[in-house]
Amino acid sequence: MDGVAPIGVVGTGYVGLVTAVCFAHLGHRVVCMDVDEAKIAGLRSGRLPIYEPGLDKLIDDTTERLSFTTSYDELLEGCHILFIAVDTPPSASGDADLSRVQRATREIARRGGERLMVMKSTVPVGTGERVTADFTGLGVSQIAYVSNPEFLREGAAIQDFLEPDRIVIGSFRPEDGDVVEALYRGIDAEVVRTSVATAEMIKYASNAFLATKISFINEIANVCEQVGADVREVARGMGLDHRIGPHFLQAGIGYGGSCFPKDVQALKQLAGNSGYHFQLLTAVLEVNALQKRRVVTKLKQRLGRLHGKKVALLGLTFKPNTDDLREAASIVLAARLQGEGARVSAHDPMIPAGEHPSFPGVAIVDDPLEALSDADAAVLVTEWPEYGRLDWGAAAAVMRRPLLIDGRNFLDPDVVAASGLEYDGIGLGDAEPPAWPA
Ligand SMILES: NC(=O)c1ccc[n+]([C@@H]2O[C@H](COP(=O)([O-])OP(=O)(O)OC[C@H]3O[C@@H](n4cnc5c(N)ncnc54)[C@H](O)[C@@H]3O)[C@@H](O)[C@H]2O)c1
Repeated sequence: MDGVAPIGVVGTGYVGLVTAVCFAHLGHRVVCMDVDEAKIAGLRSGRLPIYEPGLDKLIDDTTERLSFTTSYDELLEGCHILFIAVDTPPSASGDADLSRVQRATREIARRGGERLMVMKSTVPVGTGERVTADFTGLGVSQIAYVSNPEFLREGAAIQDFLEPDRIVIGSFRPEDGDVVEALYRGIDAEVVRTSVATAEMIKYASNAFLATKISFINEIANVCEQVGADVREVARGMGLDHRIGPHFLQAGIGYGGSCFPKDVQALKQLAGNSGYHFQLLTAVLEVNALQKRRVVTKLKQRLGRLHGKKVALLGLTFKPNTDDLREAASIVLAARLQGEGARVSAHDPMIPAGEHPSFPGVAIVDDPLEALSDADAAVLVTEWPEYGRLDWGAAAAVMRRPLLIDGRNFLDPDVVAASGLEYDGIGLGDAEPPAWPA
């Protein structure tokens, strides 16, 4: 595709960088722009700002089609199509904070020229209308707008981008959607063409539904504990029903990450702002918040007061195969345990030993056995494969009390118990089933 103008990508985080590298893999030239100078300097010298499996290899393979800049002028010199992939974190009110989106779109508008702006960031329904109204207010009429939400998952981002379940393209004018659809040539996926508002809603509704599935199975798990059922088997039995499906039915200590918590909250706010009280999402959020705290209750039931006790956290990232700590369950759990007076140690393959700003006072170490040494209990927070291979016999030997709460139902309870640990998971009820009514 040499000779064709490069694609511009604004924001080189998890989504922007993966988008850029995957488009380069498809044969496009791509200019990546970010306001973070350290990130761009690192990328120019071959250092990746994030951990994402396979990204280093793909970037090496596509390096001649990629360039990096911190300058909007440089970006806009050659690029006509501009993907916006800046972060949209939650604001204090729970609404999505669109200040970065606004900054980026205005920087582009201010420089004039005929452009096609493609929104990859997750933005509330109505953002496309707002951005284009903003352009009109600024006297800019030559920027077309398309919504193209991203569904990739960190840890599997490249595969998700190149083999997506669907590509959603919402446009005000069909010809703009056609241009964006053509960029994905080479990817075999159903393309959903809609209005801008519908595309924006597909993204929020998808994340909210997945979060609802997780909170649902977590509530089932909590009931399983009361009545002596095993949520893993319940989920398997449910998931074989093709109307339900097996995905997102793993009970645990709740979802985290940079998307589900903020997107569920933002959709609830969006509904509320337009006069509709989204009751179901209120419950989804509450269940998720309480689920993290249930682990503390489990520890108290076994250890009594946690004051002065040492609890080791295995895994800190919000899920395995990423270095992302945003909204990770570990952050709430560590703070809650400290609030009870416990000493907290931790290990995570991606988080370097020492002090970490998200975990003040937590002793993060390089070796899981060191984290477990003298601990009164351990909580498996992130299902990193290395914990499946851990020598649990050695773990039991170094712990003061060999108690393990498996917050992801990741390990085989029999194997762990045979290694000398007391094991508990989530929703693995060993209570007596309820008696017949008298
Ligand atoms: N991370 C995911 O798994 C995921 C998946 C799907 C969708 N999304 C959505 O994609 C968007 C980006 O998420 P992310 O996780 O990649 O965020 P991120 O924080 O990893 O990256 C955002 C990048 O944008 C840059 N940036 C901010 N303001 C800028 C500006 N005005 N000009 C240029 N660059 C700017 C930041 O410096 C940062 O490098 C969000 O809306 C998110 O909800 C994320």
